[in-house]
Amino acid sequence: MTNPKNPVVTIDGPGGAGKGTLASLLAKELGWHLLDSGALYRLTALAAINHGVAAEDEETLCVLAGHLDVRFVAATEDSDAQIILEGEQVESAIRAEEVGKMASRIATLPRVRDALLQRQRAFAERPGLVADGRDMGTVVFPDAVIKFYLTAEAEERARRRMEQLKQKGIDANFDRLLSDIIARDERDMNREIAPLKPADDAIMLDSTRLTIQEVLSRMLDQMRQQGII
Ligand code: DC
Repeated sequence: MTNPKNPVVTIDGPGGAGKGTLASLLAKELGWHLLDSGALYRLTALAAINHGVAAEDEETLCVLAGHLDVRFVAATEDSDAQIILEGEQVESAIRAEEVGKMASRIATLPRVRDALLQRQRAFAERPGLVADGRDMGTVVFPDAVIKFYLTAEAEERARRRMEQLKQKGIDANFDRLLSDIIARDERDMNREIAPLKPADDAIMLDSTRLTIQEVLSRMLDQMRQQGII
């Protein structure tokens, strides 16, 4: 269990609902730490790809996950946040579709999840933590002070993803993005261990027709109403 003096806000939900952006804005607004738990699964996936480890090799993946040589460098006024894996900057490499797919596959393995559990809990330091993922409120931080579950319709998530890729100069096929998103949701929701689902006490937010700023305001309002801030 986490130390109650170190409050945790969890934001769970499917990929592409805006969790990452919102978690980072909320952490900045509150001056709290940030945990992008998906990055840990992506880093394990990237390390596996780099070292030629198969998605079924639970034994080796578990060792990789437990010994990830990774450093998270917070953003400053002049530079974006960085993730350094085995001495290399990997922030953009871990966002590749191929790495995301591998991450989703290895995330079904109980021992890999277990190997990453303590590592995630260690992020709960003073003055507080905003944690984003799939099982933050259900498994990793069940005693979080407030839990949000953020969704958006799959078509809207595919449209946003398409827009992000376009901004990077990458052409993508909408139908393929949509079917990948639906397949990823299926895998994340139907795995036996720590499946993607709202915690019983989660506050549901649907971002399909809301801007990021509107969702952020709702989160902050809710936290004020509950006397957390
Ligand atoms: O949020 P993301 O797309 O970066 O996550 C990549 C994959 O990692 C996602 O498909 C499922 C897995 N994941 C998980 O199982 N549990 C988490 N807390 C975060 C991510």
